[in-house]
Amino acid sequence: MPTIRLLAPSDVAEVVEAVARDQHVASQLNPFIDAELDRGELGDSYRGRRAPTWIAIDGTRLVGHLTATTLRRPSGRVSAWVSPDAASFDGVATLGSLYALAGARWLADGVEDHEVWTYDRPDARDPWIEIGFAQRFRRGSLELSSRGAPSWPPGYRLRDGTRHDLDLAVHFNELLDVQEVAGPSFARPEPLERAELLETLEDPDTVYAVVEYRGSPVAQSMTFPLLPVRGAHERTLHLSAVVVEPSHRGRGIATAMLDQLAVRARRQGFQYADVTWRTANLAAASFWRNYGMTPTYVRLQRRVTED
Ligand SMILES: CC(C)(COP(=O)(O)OP(=O)(O)OC[C@H]1O[C@@H](n2cnc3c(N)ncnc32)[C@H](O)[C@@H]1OP(=O)(O)O)[C@@H](O)C(=O)NCCC(=O)NCCS
Repeated sequence: MPTIRLLAPSDVAEVVEAVARDQHVASQLNPFIDAELDRGELGDSYRGRRAPTWIAIDGTRLVGHLTATTLRRPSGRVSAWVSPDAASFDGVATLGSLYALAGARWLADGVEDHEVWTYDRPDARDPWIEIGFAQRFRRGSLELSSRGAPSWPPGYRLRDGTRHDLDLAVHFNELLDVQEVAGPSFARPEPLERAELLETLEDPDTVYAVVEYRGSPVAQSMTFPLLPVRGAHERTLHLSAVVVEPSHRGRGIATAMLDQLAVRARRQGFQYADVTWRTANLAAASFWRNYGMTPTYVRLQRRVTED
């Protein structure tokens, strides 16, 4: 069994190497994960962290580490977030020992929601499931050049939405909630904030696309450049809030809308697109796989409550 203790400044180089190794392996196995890593910056971030980092030592060798960032959601709920570079382990026993201490500290701080983003591979994902986490979301990417020209059924056209389409955006986002509140997701999405949605529509980086059928809106999507994040390629367009009115589903509308946006994005210099979907939203999962998304990461959650 490894020994678990808190990170000391002299351990940082080994933690950075562990993260670099995991990211390198991930990028070898999946072309949508970028190998680029600024070791100096990562080392500085570990040295400067206020949140504790636990490390696992076997003999003299570092065999794992775990830390989290605590974030308050709009609802006031506080969660501990573990990003792919915030954990490493050589097996479930090491992860279990690390989480026993780290999780106890988060719980003592009143943080009962523990969220983990990790590579979508059995060896990275399954140990978390083994210790009680459940898979909630999956992320996927594709190369925009893999998509062809849009093929619209007659009567449909795409227009750019504006801040004046706020009510429409609220309507479509509620439709998405309807889908995910129903089983098998049984999700409990946080209440939609109109002000937050308006901010998104007004953001110059957001493209709010609206599909109309004979002048009536029937679908939407919101896309924006993915913020720089470790492991993601530059020039990636993030796709979100893709929703089609139920009576217009299954006619290729979402596909045509995204293909038209892909053509535009490529002209603007984007090379990749990525998206996150709830794994229990089976229609969305099937749609994105069909559209050509290759899974990259999964998000797992542990909510510590009464059994
Ligand atoms: C997912 C969604 C956007 C798809 O829109 P759409 O216009 O019906 O999709 P398309 O007609 O372009 O479908 C393309 C392919 O996706 C797959 N697909 C779409 N909906 C599906 C469903 N309900 N079940 C299984 N596969 C589905 C099909 O394989 C389809 O291929 P086909 O034309 O050969 O049948 C739509 O179902 C929707 O609005 N759902 C609710 C909101 C939502 O969950 N959005 C995703 C957020 S991540």
